[in-house]
Amino acid sequence: MKQITLTGLKPTGAPHIGNYLGMLKPSLELAEKYQALYFIPDYHALTTVRDGKELANLTYQATATWIALGLNPDEVIIYRQSDIPEVFELAWVLSCFTAKGLLNRSHAYKAIVDDNIAAGREDDKNINIGLFTYPVLMAADILLFGTHVVPVGLDQQQHLEITRDVALTFNNTYGNVLTIPEAVIRKEVMTIPGIDGRKMSKSYNNVIPIFAPSNEVLKPVKRIVTDSLRPEEPKDPEACNIFAIYRHFADADAVAAKRNLYLEGGLAYGAMKQELFELLESTFATKRDRYNDLMNNTHELDKILEQGAEKARAIAAPIMAKVRKAVGVSI
Ligand code: TRP
Repeated sequence: MKQITLTGLKPTGAPHIGNYLGMLKPSLELAEKYQALYFIPDYHALTTVRDGKELANLTYQATATWIALGLNPDEVIIYRQSDIPEVFELAWVLSCFTAKGLLNRSHAYKAIVDDNIAAGREDDKNINIGLFTYPVLMAADILLFGTHVVPVGLDQQQHLEITRDVALTFNNTYGNVLTIPEAVIRKEVMTIPGIDGRKMSKSYNNVIPIFAPSNEVLKPVKRIVTDSLRPEEPKDPEACNIFAIYRHFADADAVAAKRNLYLEGGLAYGAMKQELFELLESTFATKRDRYNDLMNNTHELDKILEQGAEKARAIAAPIMAKVRKAVGVSI
């Protein structure tokens, strides 16, 4: 039987090139070798999204993103976290094996505490318990399916370490019940710069969206920050924010030719931006149409998610039964 790869795409907004290269594309590639389970952790988003209609819509967006990018729902199991009640059951069990100190040290939680302290507020001001136990729910997402590999961005590395730690603690007590997962983090795509040169991130407002209308893709591409070298002057491709994105979309020959043009002189940034834009258009235009079709036909998405949930629960049920048996509750 194939090993299992699993990852979650949090429903928090329109996908951008950083998400695509960092997580979506590598995940779709892994799906060729593994039995893939890709899901939308909608209950995780509840720690921050407080508008029911918005959350439902964001979940559709994330689902449509996967499918428009080529995920085949007959091969990859795609589902909504909230359709799998066993996840929440396992989360409770795992919480009883999670040292509180481990969660105190979680980066996401600590960052908010540090902000509070810096601003002279009480340490835990505005922190709900869901935010605090977020890593336990994530561990349940992963461990419930006997997952072997989890493709994630670098920001999720600590969550994977917590997951492994909790699983090992559980196994130390009950024997080899849970599979210990590995994180797969693609180092080479960790540094996709946004249009201002910092890491591409919605919170920096420096993203290039992948499914927005052409003019909303062109606008940020035109605003990519460069130095002010004239076309005839030689340039360092490695220091150029346009090249840093271009190299992931063009084929190897085109990248090599472009690299020479930078080094020898003769490259105009305006023309390079136009070329990047056209490359993005040809990469995403038909996928964008598919995305829009799906968003206009959420019944189709509902059907896909329902079928996915059924298949996912079939994998989860025997593992949850093993956990119940091990701890000695009703089976
Ligand atoms: N925490 C992840 C993020 O913010 C989303 C997520 C939830 C996830 N559960 C998961 C990722 C399980 C991988 C596996 O991006």
